Amino acid sequence: MNNFVYSWSDGKTLPESYVFPPEKRPGEHLVHVSKNIPVIDLGKAVGLHRKEAIQQIIDASQEFGFFQVINHGVPRRVVEDARAAYQGFFDLPTEEKMRLYSSDVNKKCIFYTSSVFYDNEDIHAWRDSLRHLCTPLDECIHSWPQKPTKYREVVQKYVTEVREMGSRILELISEGLGLGVGYFENELSQQQYLNVHRYPPCPDPSLTLGLRPHCDTGLITILLQGTVAGLQALKDGQWMCIEPIPDAFVVNIGYQLQIVSNGKLVSVVHRAVTNKDEARMSAAFFIEPKEDCIVEPAKAITTDAGNPAVYKSVQYAEFVQTFRAAYLGKTQNVLEHYMV
Ligand code: OGA
Ligand code: NI
Repeated sequence: MNNFVYSWSDGKTLPESYVFPPEKRPGEHLVHVSKNIPVIDLGKAVGLHRKEAIQQIIDASQEFGFFQVINHGVPRRVVEDARAAYQGFFDLPTEEKMRLYSSDVNKKCIFYTSSVFYDNEDIHAWRDSLRHLCTPLDECIHSWPQKPTKYREVVQKYVTEVREMGSRILELISEGLGLGVGYFENELSQQQYLNVHRYPPCPDPSLTLGLRPHCDTGLITILLQGTVAGLQALKDGQWMCIEPIPDAFVVNIGYQLQIVSNGKLVSVVHRAVTNKDEARMSAAFFIEPKEDCIVEPAKAITTDAGNPAVYKSVQYAEFVQTFRAAYLGKTQNVLEHYMV
């Protein structure tokens, strides 16, 4: 059975199983917020301006849980080659892509549709996705798509560069939180995934979603949004569009960084809407703790600062289990399970 949106969508019909109930549809609480997500020039985060950039990142992460970065140091060529490889994958013949078809999240590389919970969800989301592990790179690369032939080579460069930028951002955050140098450069950030999403053109974007509202589970996510709008973040009960900026990456705070910062930085609910005329492709790079890593509010923020921990310690693998169990249920804020 091939239930992938790309394979059956004729651009005209929207099956019942993709129609969300009225209160969950994109059109209901529309988006009118004057303030936009801050754009931070990482090229300026050096010398005298380093402190300023740190402050901007901390402020944005407190207020929106999101910011965008420009002058981030990832070469344009590396990004373009990776985008071409992602596109090349989605353009492969069906039999070739189906070699990776699975919704088993424990596999290193999977191609799936809607979400990994397809069989259990009431309403499906309008997207097809490729997801693979990126750590340790020399091992997991053998699980990545063999075609297009350049995929492994160019995506390896991409994830290496994006990982490197992510480390710089985590370093700025670490300094901004008063955690000193290298706080995240250990098992807290040693697992990474890449999730490439393709949202085919949709006959009626007002009725469906490309990605349901959720927060990301890890530390930070670095998203290549591309040129087609679709990502929205919840702010004061309204959905804000995160405007596509050429050459920028969108960065957002995941649940684990909310825990480590003892709630100072926030992981914010976001979703993706579809587009009537154009397909949209995005690539999310998740920087996460290793499965057995114990995550807890940093001592420098709690004990040492007389600011009681609001979250319990939790093993990352256990947190992810709770997240998955809650994803289809009613609980939206998984963190509530780990409040002191
Ligand atoms: C995600 C995500 C947003 C997008 O993969 O977790 O939020 O625009 N993606 O595809
Ligand atoms: Ni997300």
